[in-house]
Amino acid sequence: MHASAPTSQLYLSQARATKSVEDCMTVYDKWAATYNDEVGDEAQSYVAPVLVAQAAIKYKSSKSAADSVILDAGCGTGLVGQALAIGGAKAIDGIDLSAPMLDVARDTGVYRNLAQADMTRPLDTQDETYDTVVCVGTFTLGHVGPDPALRELIRVTRKTGIVVATILEDIWVSGGFKAEVEKLKAEGVVRVVSEDLIDYVKGHGDKAVLLILERAHRA
Ligand SMILES: C[S@@+](CC[C@H](N)C(=O)[O-])C[C@H]1O[C@@H](n2cnc3c(N)ncnc32)[C@H](O)[C@@H]1O
Repeated sequence: MHASAPTSQLYLSQARATKSVEDCMTVYDKWAATYNDEVGDEAQSYVAPVLVAQAAIKYKSSKSAADSVILDAGCGTGLVGQALAIGGAKAIDGIDLSAPMLDVARDTGVYRNLAQADMTRPLDTQDETYDTVVCVGTFTLGHVGPDPALRELIRVTRKTGIVVATILEDIWVSGGFKAEVEKLKAEGVVRVVSEDLIDYVKGHGDKAVLLILERAHRA
C-alpha cells in the first residue's frame, strides 16, 4: 500500500490481509478510535450500513421495525445500528470480535445489548431469538467465512424472519458463500429473497452482494 494512502485504506487493507481471527482483532482494536471518521468521509463513501438498514426495514414482514428484535452481527462501531434506529428500530443487539469497536458502539446508545463474539465459531445465542439479523462488512476478505456463520445467523433467526448481509463481490463465489447459500436452500432451511449487487465502499471501488434470506417456516 502506498505510504500516502488514507489511514482507513491502510487499516482496511491490513484487515483484509489477515490470516487469523487474532490478527483481524488486532487491526480493529487499533482502528476503533478513528474508524467512524475515516469510513464516513466523502472520499470513502461507505454506503453499505445505510443500504442494509433500509433493506431490512423495508422488507415486508409481519412486524414493524419498532416491534422487531434485531441482531447486528459484526456491528463494529455501530453504524448499522444507528441507521436502523433512524428507521424506527428499538430493540437492537450487537456482537463483534473487537472490544474497542464494541465500546464505540456502546457510546451510540442505540444498542440494547452488546457482546464480544467470534462469528467463525457457533454463537452463544438461543435458536430463533431474532426477527431480523443484519451483517455488514464482515463477510469480506480476511474476516468471516460462510461456514458456520451463515447457518448460525439463520439458526438464531425466527421462522420467516430475515437475514440481510453484505458479501464482498470478490469472494461471493470464490469464498464459498454462493455455494453455502445454495446448500441452505437445497436443505429447505432458507428462501433466497434477493442477491443483488450493490455499491459498498464507493471510494474503494468495491461492490458487494446484498443477500436477503428468509428462514423457512418449517426449518
Ligand atoms: C468492516 S467492519 C464492519 C463493521 C460494521 N458492521 C460497519 O458496517 O461499519 C468489520 C467488523 O467485523 C468484525 N469482525 C471481524 N472478524 C470477526 C469475527 N470473527 N467475529 C465477529 N466479528 C468479526 C470486526 O471487528 C469489525 O468490527
